[in-house]
Amino acid sequence: MIADPLIPDRPAATAALPAVAALGVAKAYRRGAAVTPVLDGVELTIPRGQCAFLLGPSGSGKTTLLSMIGGLLKPDAGKLSVLGSDLTRLTPDAAAEFRRTRLGFIFQRFHLLQGLTASENVGAPLILSGVQPSQARQRAEELLDLVGLGDFRRQIPRRLSVGQCQRVALARALANDPELILADEPTASLDAEAGQQAMQLLRRVTVEMGRTAVVVTHDARILPFADSILAVERGRVVAQPTPTARPLSP
Ligand SMILES: Nc1ncnc2c1ncn2[C@@H]1O[C@H](COP(=O)(O)OP(=O)(O)OP(=O)(O)O)[C@@H](O)[C@H]1O
Ligand SMILES: [Mg+2]
Repeated sequence: MIADPLIPDRPAATAALPAVAALGVAKAYRRGAAVTPVLDGVELTIPRGQCAFLLGPSGSGKTTLLSMIGGLLKPDAGKLSVLGSDLTRLTPDAAAEFRRTRLGFIFQRFHLLQGLTASENVGAPLILSGVQPSQARQRAEELLDLVGLGDFRRQIPRRLSVGQCQRVALARALANDPELILADEPTASLDAEAGQQAMQLLRRVTVEMGRTAVVVTHDARILPFADSILAVERGRVVAQPTPTARPLSP
């Protein structure tokens, strides 16, 4: 039985290696002869145990960068090391295994499975990892309680509000106790209170458990939760002044 769904089932990795290190990373989208350059010469280091925020105008390349950090897109050039693995060298199968076992994603458009209930969506990464269905369901329900959706566990996404879907996506991202959580606008559809609660949960995971989070956001209300702030500007990543990070509740 899992007493606290946030209690780790494996110790935090050593802080010696950064969670994310990029050197000269470049990415352009190509369709036929059309080339859309997005990132060029990205340098960044995100230490383990941090909640790093990634800001920047719409279309600047935040989701593109997050997708590369998550092994969903390959850089065209440069070096990208995530949790000690060189992502540019992983085969597609190895990248999928890496994502499944070590990362948690909150996608900008959630990507919930429409045929599954909220609880089944949250439990899906556990089932894929070989966890018994009854245990997966229990953990999923505990996580849904944590995001305030205990009463909606059997609802399918179509019958949930956008903000509720976003909270299901947060619960699902935490299901596997990932070392690195990649969150693309995780509070965009939440009101102020739900947004604060979501970020408090992410900060518990980083501050108390040594996990790392990279949070893309336009939401100024959650900036006090950042340990560091990076901005994507003209294809590069530039460090920004960081407000003093507050431990667990701002
Ligand atoms: N699959 C794709 N094919 C071609 N171009 C793309 C693709 N995905 C993104 N782009 C382009 O790359 C640029 C960066 O897109 P990206 O989604 O990374 O921006 P973003 O910073 O996340 O924006 P937003 O804040 O609006 O989510 C944009 O100009 C976009 O049009
Ligand atoms: Mg985006």
